[in-house]
Amino acid sequence: MPAGTASVALMGALDGIELAAVGPWSVEVVESTGSTNADLAERARAGAPAWTALLAGEQTAGRGRLTRTWSSPPGTSVSLSVLLRPTRPVAEWGLLPLLTGLGVARAVGALGVEAVLKWPNDVLLPADGERKVCGILAEVVAGPTPGVVVGMGINVGQQRSELPVDTATSLRLVGVDVARPQVVSTVLAELGDVYRTWQSSGWAALADAYSSMCVTLGRTVRVEVPDGEAVLGTAASITADGRIVVRTREGERAFAAGDVHHLRPL
Ligand code: BTN
Repeated sequence: MPAGTASVALMGALDGIELAAVGPWSVEVVESTGSTNADLAERARAGAPAWTALLAGEQTAGRGRLTRTWSSPPGTSVSLSVLLRPTRPVAEWGLLPLLTGLGVARAVGALGVEAVLKWPNDVLLPADGERKVCGILAEVVAGPTPGVVVGMGINVGQQRSELPVDTATSLRLVGVDVARPQVVSTVLAELGDVYRTWQSSGWAALADAYSSMCVTLGRTVRVEVPDGEAVLGTAASITADGRIVVRTREGERAFAAGDVHHLRPL
């Protein structure tokens, strides 16, 4: 058991509500841990099966994209990681963050409020100025039986003053009053559907759905690449392997990773 895990129950309770079985997922609930992604990666290396999910009531060392931290205070947010072992070619695994974003955005829609996507996978709420309600971090677990741990941090019950940055929002702030277990089961159901579609039919079956929810497309953007370069242009399309194509003054460039900022037109 990873250090910091306070209590564990298979299909346990969150907010006093017992989580029902959700499709093929096997969900474990812990009250508190450092990072559900770190814990699940450890279990993946020890041979945990695909469709394992780990949910924490709070995280004390949540990990964000591009080596940032992620705030997951007790009582108000969902910290959920899932282990997937795709049978599609490894070259396609970079699509997993995008399709997870699609699954979460659909789930938020099913909970009662429109959600959109900022490439690659930030889930934003137009009802609160396109602030971010969910961040997603996918990490490949190498080894003899490789897999991918995909973690989702969803802001559910935070008040404005409880959010770490002005660009964040929560479901509560747009009037969605929902218990965290319902958020978890809705997200797992939608993610399961999207993942199975991808496994059987590939990205081609999801690309239009992703693009229609991705408000980055058509926008003037600044892409900050991990090596420090910043590129200005118009987001034009998404490639079949999930990269964003940006039309710059020097021509088109495709990026597999980076921070995208939506700007006003140049
Ligand atoms: C981002 O930077 O936008 C990604 C944030 C991902 C946070 C989630 S919370 C559950 C899982 N465990 C972690 O340590 N991180 C992810």
